[in-house]
Amino acid sequence: MSEQRVLITRRTPPPGVELLRAAGCTVDQLDQVEPPTREEFLRRLGGVAGAITMLSDRVDAEALDAAGPQLKVVANFAVGYDNVDLAACRERGVRVTNTPGVLTDATADLAWTLILAAARHVVAGDRLVRDGQWRGWAPTQLLGLQLAGSTLGLLGAGRIGSAVARRAVGFGMRILYVDQQSSADLERATGAKRVELEELLAESDVLSLHIPMAPEHRHLIGAAQLAAMKPTAILINTARGPIVDEAALVQALRAGRIAAAGFDVYEKEPQLSPGLTELPSVVLLPHLGSATTATRQRMSQMTAENVLAVLAGREPPNPVA
Ligand code: DGY
Repeated sequence: MSEQRVLITRRTPPPGVELLRAAGCTVDQLDQVEPPTREEFLRRLGGVAGAITMLSDRVDAEALDAAGPQLKVVANFAVGYDNVDLAACRERGVRVTNTPGVLTDATADLAWTLILAAARHVVAGDRLVRDGQWRGWAPTQLLGLQLAGSTLGLLGAGRIGSAVARRAVGFGMRILYVDQQSSADLERATGAKRVELEELLAESDVLSLHIPMAPEHRHLIGAAQLAAMKPTAILINTARGPIVDEAALVQALRAGRIAAAGFDVYEKEPQLSPGLTELPSVVLLPHLGSATTATRQRMSQMTAENVLAVLAGREPPNPVA
């Protein structure tokens, strides 16, 4: 392959960079944990043939124009690609790829981390001990939700939602799901039942979100939906922040309309809505869904494989546009 420039907008695990270099690409990697400024992102895009982008990099018409006509592929380092304007890419003949499959287990595990932490007051309990406020065992201290026999509601039963459901079987939970289509495999493996959103909201003790971000999913969980949930319910979001109206969530938690929440994603990452961090009933993680060493290495490798395929004139393994 003739020498081509590839931008990687963040420090990433090594396999991807090594693959790109071994194939003769010149790699321009921003060796930093934090996202680049918009100005720097646009500047570094200039003249590249491939860009490995993160979910915080907005790849829109302005970015594509800044890159120029030699840009052939945007390989998003994520399964979600709501940061990429697919139509603008298609107009310019730029291929877009993602990293499906390899982060399913890691993200399902993290959803379960949040379910357990929120159900059993793990963060509040840890704080109590660390702060030296614990006065010993008490029969009424930090009583949580018993998961066995409770109902897990899944909004979205694709790869990640289904993996969350499989784990729920081990916890003895009843499973309900909302999805555009029913999944016979999921129902057979977990006993899950497909229902309408109204029933999901009313019946779930734990409601976990697993739908992609799309314009019609913005604030799908807002004040009305939160009010339709049980006052004892827990809301878990490892999907995308804007699916939940965060201000309405703060209000609902303050008013006791739902009991608790476990969040890994936020409406305006890394900013949080006012009041969220003050609520003792929420568990807040910094978007760690896919953050295991093995998963991030696979994501790194997949993004490079997608770039190399497009630059070699082949169909990429994981196209989204
Ligand atoms: C994804 O892949 O979409 C995740 O949110 C990144 O961890």
